[in-house]
Amino acid sequence: MNELQVELKSQLEKFCLAKIEPHMEHDDEVEEFRMDIFTDLGNLGFCGMTIPETYGGAGLSYQDCAVALEEIAKYSVSYSVTVSVSTMVQAIINDFGTEKQKTTFLPALTAGQEIGAFCLSESSAGSDAGALKTTAKKTEGGYILNGTKMWITSGGIAKTYIVMARTGEAGSKGITAFIVRDGTPGLSFGKKEKKMGWRASPTREVIFENCFVPEENILIGEGQGFKVAMAALDKGRITIGAVAVGLSQRALDESVKYSLTRHQFNHAIFEFQGLQFMMADMACEIEASRLLVQEAARLYDSGKPNQKIASFAKLKATDTAMKVTTDAVQILGGVGYTREYPLERFMRDAKVLQIVEGTNQVQRVVIARQLKKEYQTH
Ligand code: CAA
Repeated sequence: MNELQVELKSQLEKFCLAKIEPHMEHDDEVEEFRMDIFTDLGNLGFCGMTIPETYGGAGLSYQDCAVALEEIAKYSVSYSVTVSVSTMVQAIINDFGTEKQKTTFLPALTAGQEIGAFCLSESSAGSDAGALKTTAKKTEGGYILNGTKMWITSGGIAKTYIVMARTGEAGSKGITAFIVRDGTPGLSFGKKEKKMGWRASPTREVIFENCFVPEENILIGEGQGFKVAMAALDKGRITIGAVAVGLSQRALDESVKYSLTRHQFNHAIFEFQGLQFMMADMACEIEASRLLVQEAARLYDSGKPNQKIASFAKLKATDTAMKVTTDAVQILGGVGYTREYPLERFMRDAKVLQIVEGTNQVQRVVIARQLKKEYQTH
């Protein structure tokens, strides 16, 4: 880590210990999201980290952003993911938006006064995102959207929605990306999902019923929406990887701490080689994940193709989070399974990391396609 990253990490550690950690058990239990925490993160510059300062962002690199998201995730995956997805939405507007769209929509998002949401998935278009059915029919001055988006992180609390809808032919080439604001007539929200994990982060259906979106809210142009979504996910897969690393690191920290103080058979349980090997493997896998996340971020920051490495990072870091949090519960034993310790929450929060932003099976598809391309080229 460079000096700036050490500083970011230390600032976030203080903030999270004071403002997030005390609420997490309660908020997980009652499924509460606190907008004031998000806005405080924005006031500190963490809600638009990778966005240029001209639009209120912090102008940081994805490597810096990964360090910050990792630190937040040590205390709360819910807040880290909210920042991650909102950052992805801002990146879409920053990369593909017009100057007017950037000056209109970015400042409130970078400031943390508002949250962004990404609407791609539908009930019959999850992994097969190109099959989405939401339609956008051309009308005078804009488009009329109809359809339902599913499993939308921050659905209902977000103010700016990036929505992929069909304006043309079947398949990925007929999709267009739109910016839709909360409050637009015809936009409503379905039930809040009852989830295993990420319980402080609301997930809802986002429904469009004859929802008029002005032409000026289209991103790049008709038929470009699938590429907009895929390019955004190349970055989202880095940041979700970073969230997974933070969660894993916290689970390891708790495992070491507990096993050094818990005594059985007249020894701290840390002294038993069976547990030492588990924790050594956890540490090794976490570091490997962190390095992959940083490498995917470094490639992106230096303008190089990072699609394959971003999928490596997402796959490795999130599978590691599932394994590490499961093993951490095992190390704590009976208390690990209870809500007396946060380990069972960590294990619940880990599971969906293997599913969102492209399941880990989709990551393998992306990697295999790249391998084929590389072998065919050379
Ligand atoms: N960048 C730019 N363009 C890309 C691209 C990328 N990374 N990946 C693909 N494309 C382009 C291709 O070049 C192709 O264009 P051409 O035809 O002009 O060459 C076009 O997009 C179609 O590509 P594919 O043929 O590869 O598309 P496919 O239908 O076979 O799908 C897939 C590929 C990888 C499976 C893709 O559908 C996918 O990633 N699915 C998973 C969807 C996903 O990740 N959903 C996450 C939901 S969001 C979320 O979880 C956020 C949250 O709230 C937490």
